Amino acid sequence: MSKPLKQIHLAAHFPGVNNTTVWSDPASGSHIDFSSFAHFARTAERAKFDFLFLAEGLRLREQGGKIYDLDVVGRPDTFTVLSALAAVTEHLGLTGTINSTFNEPYEVARQFASLDHLSGGRAAWNVVTSWDAFTGENFRRGGFLPQEERYSRAKEFLATAHELFDSWHGDEILADQETGRFLSDAKAGAFVHRGQHFDIHGRFNVPRSPQGRPVIFQAGDSEEGREFAASDADAIFSRHTTLEAGRAFYTDVKRRLAKYGRRPDQLLILPAATFTLADTDAEARELAKEVRRQQVSGATALRHLEFVWNRDLSGYDPDGPLPDIDPDVTSRHIAEGRAQVRMYRDPLATAREWRELAAAHNWSIRDLVIETGNRQNFIGSAGTIARTIDEYVQNDASDGFILVPHVTPTGLDAFADKVVPLLQERGVFRTDYEGPTLRDHLGLAHPDGLGDRRAAS
Ligand SMILES: Cc1cc2nc3c(=O)[nH]c(=O)nc-3n(C[C@H](O)[C@H](O)[C@H](O)COP(=O)(O)O)c2cc1C
Repeated sequence: MSKPLKQIHLAAHFPGVNNTTVWSDPASGSHIDFSSFAHFARTAERAKFDFLFLAEGLRLREQGGKIYDLDVVGRPDTFTVLSALAAVTEHLGLTGTINSTFNEPYEVARQFASLDHLSGGRAAWNVVTSWDAFTGENFRRGGFLPQEERYSRAKEFLATAHELFDSWHGDEILADQETGRFLSDAKAGAFVHRGQHFDIHGRFNVPRSPQGRPVIFQAGDSEEGREFAASDADAIFSRHTTLEAGRAFYTDVKRRLAKYGRRPDQLLILPAATFTLADTDAEARELAKEVRRQQVSGATALRHLEFVWNRDLSGYDPDGPLPDIDPDVTSRHIAEGRAQVRMYRDPLATAREWRELAAAHNWSIRDLVIETGNRQNFIGSAGTIARTIDEYVQNDASDGFILVPHVTPTGLDAFADKVVPLLQERGVFRTDYEGPTLRDHLGLAHPDGLGDRRAAS
């Protein structure tokens, strides 16, 4: 008997905080006005997507005191946006990225429990552990947490939030107008948490929400990050988007679940993915090249090179050759707080490799950054993109994708109209929502043991 087809999970990533989305494209609208968020969310819901996703940047990206020229900056606050979207959608899940280094569990638990109430059970929390001193300056906590401690804090942060969510059972509110009793349990919301990072006790003041607890995402790639996901998360937001890298990551993470008494299907792997859709594959390839040039201006290319060189390269011509001078590996880093800096663990070797590549292809600085940086993941006609996405999921490179269009807010429209119907025809994507909560869409169990469709089947 052939294996049943896996169902694909799809989400829509509203951009903000980087240069994936091209704000300078004439088709781009506001990244701040609520009408843009509403359009994007309604498109995702019309297409029956699982959820909308918001990343988070707690400090504007800058180098040498200048904000990155192509960044979409100034996206409004996550909880405020998601709560407003809850009012204009009915089914779409609402996932917010919230940092566990600079926040406090009580406050974050209150916000997520509230969002879960307001949305009727559609809240999800992407727990990120960004810790750098550059971001920390905004919180009077510059570098207060060493890098290696960020996951121990994240783990305790999440466990504490769960204690707060679980301090209500769901049957405490009587609101009996005859007897005048509001609560049935005088201890509702009582909690005590004593740990290494948090020592708090008191009363949690948001009653049990429809999902019990929000769905938990993790986004981080280190050994500690993968273990945290395997032990505590319902889904991972990753960036492994080639078939081979996706399969390797998928196998690695899923095999870690058993030691925590969990099944592989209790953790979904959902990489971020970009796409360029056109009428034909050839047109899409052309368009993808244009988009890539829009995403990498001369100034962007120089800033990117500075991640490796750790020197001010603003005097260099981005259309000229790579610097002869070697990276500075001695001092405080010029690109403070950039995750990319850590991707280049051996700057001298990377510089050597890039010079060789540029020489072999006759590439300028800008060409090199365009060619070696993130390209569009899915490029082609609707048929090609639907087939490729399905191939990735059926071959266990992922359980679906979090799609990042390069135009806001209309960049998802053509995908919804042209690609989604083809996935539905293939029998791998829902034609309607089956339940009201995000846990229903993702096939995840309710923490109180309700609705584990996979375990039951
Ligand atoms: C796909 C992906 C998306 C991420 N998105 C964010 C984000 O929106 N905001 C943030 O502060 N950190 C974000 N991070 C950073 C991670 O949560 C984490 O703090 C960082 O990668 C360090 O963890 P690691 O060493 O386990 O990779 C993201 C990481 C990945 C892999």
